[in-house]
Amino acid sequence: MKKNTVTTLAQMKQNGEKISQITCYDFSTARIFDEAGINSILVGDSLGMTMQGYEDTLPVTMDEMIVYGRSVGRACKNAFVVVDMPFMSYQVSVEQAVTNAGRIMKECGVNAVKLEGGKSVCPQISAITACGIPVCAHVGMTPQSVNSFGGFKVQGKGEENARRVLEDALAVEKAGAFMVVLECVPPKLAALITKKTKMITIGIGASAECDGQVLVYQDMMGMSGDFTPKFVKRFADIGEQMKTAVAEYDREVKAGTFPSAEHTYPKSDCSDEFLSKLDNEYKEV
Ligand code: KIV
Repeated sequence: MKKNTVTTLAQMKQNGEKISQITCYDFSTARIFDEAGINSILVGDSLGMTMQGYEDTLPVTMDEMIVYGRSVGRACKNAFVVVDMPFMSYQVSVEQAVTNAGRIMKECGVNAVKLEGGKSVCPQISAITACGIPVCAHVGMTPQSVNSFGGFKVQGKGEENARRVLEDALAVEKAGAFMVVLECVPPKLAALITKKTKMITIGIGASAECDGQVLVYQDMMGMSGDFTPKFVKRFADIGEQMKTAVAEYDREVKAGTFPSAEHTYPKSDCSDEFLSKLDNEYKEV
């Protein structure tokens, strides 16, 4: 397998080949996904919900993104790794955005950063890309603005909103973004954006009209509890499998059947004579 880069991914778009991306936040899972042949891994700030149990992504900090991003960066030999810039790590000023994007690249050893927003974050995108850091933008439903949207809702419904989402996408491309996540965008609008831009469009709830797809891995693996958004397909039931495995382990530990001889080191044991000597020596203890 070959390392995915901005060049190979752009070539895939040109050839009409679809691009696969999945979220991931830790070393062992990232290694599995990388070996599975995924094109790209997104260390999304969705980790605030999936790994930390928050209601939304707003509490996630830069230091936390660095810890998760570094673990994934170390695991991936082939996947193109993108790390999210968390809420308020790039909105305040261009200078802060560049400093934080630089931190992610230096400390995580990954391939790109992602930030949410359209026209309003173009100065940040221009400045970050000017430093040689590839930027993935994110338009449509941008979870860091959940409070402005009044909930996690489909964006680009109606002519006004559709124009706004398209203009945002064209603006981030002009600013230098090489990839854009379209979240909860209707299919025809996603198709139009994908046609009108050289950027790679990655959809989540934005139909198969995009150049590629991303899903939050706990959602598609059946590890997110009962709520599943409409756009999520469940590809496995790992949550149930883990429950079954842990319940079996619990049962075997309590029954004394684990560990059996197969999982112990009898050959390394000392002689009975020596152990009896030890037993005598430590009688008082
Ligand atoms: O944080 C995240 O995981 C994301 C994806 C949902 C696109 O931004």
